[in-house]
This record gives sequence, C-alpha cells and structure tokens, in this order.
Amino acid sequence: MILALESSCDETAAAVLSPPSNLLSSIVSSQAKEHEPYGGVVPELASRNHLVLLRPTVEKALASANVTFDKIEAFAATSGPGLSSSLLIGNTAAKALSLSSQKPFIAINHMEGHLCSPFLDMEIKPHIGLIVSGGHTLLVKVKQFDDYKVVGNSLDDAAGEAFDKVGKMLGLSYPGGPEVEKSALKGDSKRFNFPRSMLNSGNLNFSFSGIKTSVLYKLKEIGVPDKQTISDLCASFQAAVIEILVTKALNAAKLYNLPRIALSGGVACNGSLRDLIKKKASEGGVELFIVDKNYSTDNAAMIARAASERFIRKQFSSLESDVNPNLEI
Ligand code: KG4
Ligand code: ZN
Repeated sequence: MILALESSCDETAAAVLSPPSNLLSSIVSSQAKEHEPYGGVVPELASRNHLVLLRPTVEKALASANVTFDKIEAFAATSGPGLSSSLLIGNTAAKALSLSSQKPFIAINHMEGHLCSPFLDMEIKPHIGLIVSGGHTLLVKVKQFDDYKVVGNSLDDAAGEAFDKVGKMLGLSYPGGPEVEKSALKGDSKRFNFPRSMLNSGNLNFSFSGIKTSVLYKLKEIGVPDKQTISDLCASFQAAVIEILVTKALNAAKLYNLPRIALSGGVACNGSLRDLIKKKASEGGVELFIVDKNYSTDNAAMIARAASERFIRKQFSSLESDVNPNLEI
C-alpha cells in the first residue's frame, strides 16, 4: 500500500492506494478560502497552511482507507513543478516517514500525476494527454507509463490561468475558473467574437494571453458591465478557449495516429469542455478518457496512481533528491 502526499500549490492532499489501481482513500484539504482575499495563491501562506493541515489530512486518509501506518509499503510525494516552499512540506514529510519506517520514498512529477488521473482505476494505455491546469496547458504523447513526449505547450498563459485572470477582471471571486463557468451558463457565447489564437498555426502550441487581452479591451469599451454582459463575456471567452483546446487535442491524435485522448487538470472540471471534447472525439472516432471531476483539480490520488507504477517497477527515489519548482515532464 502506498501513501501519497500532494502539496505543490494550495491544496494539502493525502491518498492511500493499493497497487496498481485500487484507490482506498483520497483527502483534499483546500486552502482556497485563505487565499481568496488576495485574489491568488500567496506562497508563504500556502506553506504555513500545509504545515498545519498535513498531519490531520494524512490521519484522515489512513482512517478513511481503514489502514494503519505499519501497512504502508512506500511513501510518495510531489516533487515539482509547483511552489518550492509548498512542495518542500509534503516532500519532506514523505521522506521523514520513509526514513523512520525504512520504506521506500517515491518522488512524483505533478504533471505525471495529472496524466495518470484519467486512469486511476485502470491500465494506462498509449494516448494523447491534454492537461489543462492553472499552471500548464500541455499536449503529451504517452507511449506508455514513463515514456512521454510533450508535443504542444502554451507559449504564454495556461488555460486555467487565463480563466482565473478573466474572472478577476470581471470581479468574480477566486479561483475564477469555476466562477466563469457558472456565469457562462447564463450567457450567450456568440455575443462576443474573441480570437481563436493559433487555431490554424500548423503546430500544437497554444496561446491564451491574446484572448484574455481581448476580453480586457472589450470590458474597457463597455465600461461597467451589467450581470448579463458579464455572463456573455464569460460564455464567449470560454467558447474560444475550449474550441482551441479540443481542436488541438484532436489534431494531435490525428497527427500521431493515436486515436485515444485523455483529458486531465483543473480545467477538465469545466462542463462545456467535457461536452465538446466528447462530441468531437465521438465524431472523429477517438476513444476518450476524462478524469473524474473529483480528481481533476489537485489531489493525491493521482500522485499515488503514478507512484504505484513506479513502485511496481521498483523505481524508488533517493532521500537526497530535491524538490524542483520547474520540473518538466
Ligand atoms: O490542476 P489544478 O488544480 O492546479 C494546477 O495544477 O494548476 O488546476 C487549477 C485550475 C485553476 O486555474 C482553476 O480556475 C481551474 O483549474 N478550474 C476551472 C474549473 N475548475 C477549476 N477552469 C474552468 N472551469 C472550471 N469549472
Ligand atoms: Zn495540478
């Protein structure tokens, strides 16, 4: 049994999983409320909160899995990318547990965790992974576990970051992504025609800062928007971002002759994105795996799932390995 910890940003999370894919518990202690007054994650505050929340979160994960500490065979933690002061908390705790119990430590790349999240309870098949989170927008060609090639990346803002910034611009609460989606439900996605940046760029990269700036210019033109206009701006912005994400994922599947797509990351919670990718994948004869909404934003279940693949392969990490805020996949 593996105990995994995730503390790369503002969620303190712990999960217990029996390899290869039997998830026994997953607890996420969110700090969103603490960061809301600042309109974004405050790194110092995040690491202090991780310190407070880590122990009770681990205890809850063990209790909910009905597993005692001595049954844990390996300890895993996210080692990057993320905020270094946040990563250090989960990472150091997992290493200390590993040292004191003489069980292996497994360092996991947060993005590998997201990639594994649509396959929590099943075998990981070759696919094109579309990871859309607050820090990344990646298209990854996955030949098999541990054989990854990034084939598309955002040249500027990540998709989730653009959602958050647009939410902030429109006076919605933090984090903006879910609020933009909520407001968009009452909006007209055709009222404003925001640019589909790089849609026909001939490659698989993304750019979202232009769309975000277009929303800002439109907002300046409008002045003080009424509630309906805010909803129309949200719906139109969301439609532009989603069209680009889905088109590029399908282009990647076609280019690499790999008719299987897996969608993950916080933005994968978005209902319109889920609906459009389902429709287009079905039209294109592409098999689709979408992360369960409960495991799309940061969690430790996905870290445990990745760790279980490494555990099976005996790919353990040194206790001297360091966290890396800029770790690449
Ligand atoms: O994967 P995640 O929890 O953290 C990172 O690894 O970055 O993703 C968080 C991002 C945030 O930008 C948040 O606004 C976005 O996911 N998000 C959404 C939705 N729910 C979360 N974006 C759009 N629609 C949503 N429903
Ligand atoms: Zn994440």
